[in-house]
Amino acid sequence: MRPTLALLLTSAIAACVPASAEDSPRVFPPYARPTLIAHRGDSGRAPEHTIPAYRLALEAGADFVEPDLQITKDGVLVCLHDTTLERTTDVESVFPGRSRTIKGREAWPVADFTLEEIRRLDAGSWKGPQFKGLRVPTFQEMIDLVRGHAGIIPETKAPEAYEGLGLDMAGLLMDALRKNGLDVPGADPKTPVVVQSFSIGSIKALRERHGCKLPILALLDEPGQVTGEAIAGLKGLVDGIAPSKNLVLKRPGLVDDAHRLGLSVTVWTFRAGAAGSSQQVREEMARFLGDLKVDAVFTDNPDQFPRR
Ligand code: G3P
Ligand code: CA
Repeated sequence: MRPTLALLLTSAIAACVPASAEDSPRVFPPYARPTLIAHRGDSGRAPEHTIPAYRLALEAGADFVEPDLQITKDGVLVCLHDTTLERTTDVESVFPGRSRTIKGREAWPVADFTLEEIRRLDAGSWKGPQFKGLRVPTFQEMIDLVRGHAGIIPETKAPEAYEGLGLDMAGLLMDALRKNGLDVPGADPKTPVVVQSFSIGSIKALRERHGCKLPILALLDEPGQVTGEAIAGLKGLVDGIAPSKNLVLKRPGLVDDAHRLGLSVTVWTFRAGAAGSSQQVREEMARFLGDLKVDAVFTDNPDQFPRR
């Protein structure tokens, strides 16, 4: 029996309209569904960028786990948010004589310490005594843990500062990914890799100097970076934009602007604040994903993601 025109039209319309928000085909590449990115691991329940934080993120079903990258004195990529060690380790007591004054305060730059020295530091006690003795992981250790279970979304942090020291973060990142067979899209379907950076210079270095074909997100934190014109200027260089929550709230139309250009929108950072606010962070993520139609969220609380 041949289908009637009316039936064909009905089917075509049905194909465009999701049966429910959960089935929505609206997300943009590199994502396949509304996507959960564990920000610094499950940094709500364990010290950020530690192996237990990454493990909890996997247990919570994260689609991607985020490592921020820094470089040790001997050129090893480690997972740490800050360019200095004092906020999240006991470097102050282990290496009391090794600080510098940076912007008027005492600091211990990662780049002043070898990996062997950084391994001696306690990266857990700052969060609570139950985490005493946790170490700063290398990027390789993070890959070894996450591979096969979730995607990896490394951020090149402060690449210009490292360039001033003769260290090429984009190059080190691509070397590490190549060594693990993760440097091209689709290399390991269980472990997609997406790169992110605030630095357009770093993104250009990845693309032009290192031939990076992986999806890249431009992190944005200034209103001037999310005008229609500014977003259009990123087309061809990146695959998506990653604005802060506030930028999206101030100009929700940026989501449509990006989508019209085929760019995905990934928003940061969703976190439960005071005790008892888990419900709030869950609802907030649901609103951004459902009403504002963003594609992915970075959250400190992957266990609160409004599961598809
Ligand atoms: O990379 C997304 C988000 O993490 C950006 O902010 O400072 O937490 O790295 P930050
Ligand atoms: Ca980050």
